[in-house]
Amino acid sequence: MRDEPRLLASLHQRLSPSRLAHSLNVADSAAALARCHGVDELAAYFAGLAHDICKCDSVDNMTRILKNSGYTFLDCECGNAKLLHAPAGAEFLRLERLCNEADILNAMRYHTTGRAGMSLLEKVVFMADLISAERDYPDVDIVRKLAFADLDGALRYVLRYIISDLTGNGETIHPNSVECLEWLDSLP
Ligand SMILES: [Fe+2]
Ligand SMILES: [Fe+2]
Repeated sequence: MRDEPRLLASLHQRLSPSRLAHSLNVADSAAALARCHGVDELAAYFAGLAHDICKCDSVDNMTRILKNSGYTFLDCECGNAKLLHAPAGAEFLRLERLCNEADILNAMRYHTTGRAGMSLLEKVVFMADLISAERDYPDVDIVRKLAFADLDGALRYVLRYIISDLTGNGETIHPNSVECLEWLDSLP
């Protein structure tokens, strides 16, 4: 079940104009990547639209949503909006009956960290978030091309960058990201 009209109304209500524009761009990128990699385009578009639905919430609200759904917090997640908005968004969608499809909810839940054994839809949404039209970091054109040519290669490329960047800043690396990179490196 997916309720796109109610999702759009909720996004307009909950997100800042720039976050809404980002979400629409991520949805477009996710659909394009899905078409390229043989993934359900409509599911990818929906997940892209929804992925940051809790991004403009307070940390307290993200925490409350997750507590209500019985979420088990890792130490590195507590008080960390960057990490909490992803699982909070997935739980928000489920609790508000906007979507109950496991693959879409997982694509939202793991869009900032990745995880070992990601589905194709999860990979598409993860990469779509990093190549959306408004992104302009130095490597974005390389990452865009790679995401269409070699989805796993693109994931490896960005995860290595994310992990070294977080390490350089003295920030905690989520274990899912480390496990995701190890998993990708172990693939034939
Ligand atoms: Fe996000
Ligand atoms: Fe995003």
